Amino acid sequence: MTFLFNSDARRAAIFADAFTQDLPDVAFATDAATVDPNAVRYLITWTVPDNLARYNNLEILFSIGAGVDQFRFDAVPATVKIVRMVEEGIVRMMQEYVTLAVLALHRNLPAYLAQQRAGEWLDIPQIQAGSRRIGVLGLGQLGQAVLERLKPFGFPLAGWSRSPRQIDGVTCHHGEVGLEAMLAASDILICLLPLTEDTRGFLNAGLFAKLPQGAALVHTGRGPQLDHQALVAALDSGQLSAAMIDVTDPEPLPPDHPLWSHPKIILTPHVASVTQPVTAARAVIDNIRRHRAGLEPIGLVDRSRGY
Ligand code: GLV
Repeated sequence: MTFLFNSDARRAAIFADAFTQDLPDVAFATDAATVDPNAVRYLITWTVPDNLARYNNLEILFSIGAGVDQFRFDAVPATVKIVRMVEEGIVRMMQEYVTLAVLALHRNLPAYLAQQRAGEWLDIPQIQAGSRRIGVLGLGQLGQAVLERLKPFGFPLAGWSRSPRQIDGVTCHHGEVGLEAMLAASDILICLLPLTEDTRGFLNAGLFAKLPQGAALVHTGRGPQLDHQALVAALDSGQLSAAMIDVTDPEPLPPDHPLWSHPKIILTPHVASVTQPVTAARAVIDNIRRHRAGLEPIGLVDRSRGY
């Protein structure tokens, strides 16, 4: 029985060590050209290979990343489980990035950076954390972890998800009506939604208009969720005051794209959170053990939901 690893060599070395130590009865392979396709039970990859059908004993297709939107589900036989990467390294990095972004927006950093470039020494009225309302779109593992990390600052916290959730210290909303209510009360909106047909183009002019005037956006979901033109228009009209954006469509942006140089945008190149191989290998090995024990892998994708 073989685990086929299709990602970079640095991560492969770390995964290989972990498998040798913790799952010695599973052969670890990185070369699809020499592996016996019938032996491959587990495959980890970023995109589904064209020749997936040759692995006719495949049981689990693991994504090397938190997202699975890059997979075409119809190319994966129904008997194969699709599993997202759920590991503490990704969670920790997302907590760091969103905290960085929220504090930067709360403390007017984009405006101060623009002032610095213009040689201006001016203070901007500062509201206190207790008056800066945070709204998180998406209450999965990452959304919940981010909210937990933001608690000590004293921001009023809210979150929105498709189905009802209950989180201590967080006002939880769900569904259409809940979305309107949360947007109307979000001074900083954070998008951590998975990319599905329902969330494509979610961050658009209509949504921005429902936020309080001068609200700010943190986008760490997926590029195709954001309407770039609508974002620029909302920033230029003052409906939004600033944005910190980690994901775009396409990635990278073309050189002349307005997001590069917009004075109210801080842009990072899809680095908010990256799979950490040591913790990821542990998570994958634990999931194989769970699967073999007849338990559901953590991060199992519901194909009908899309994540
Ligand atoms: C990064 O965006 C990931 O999916 O892990």
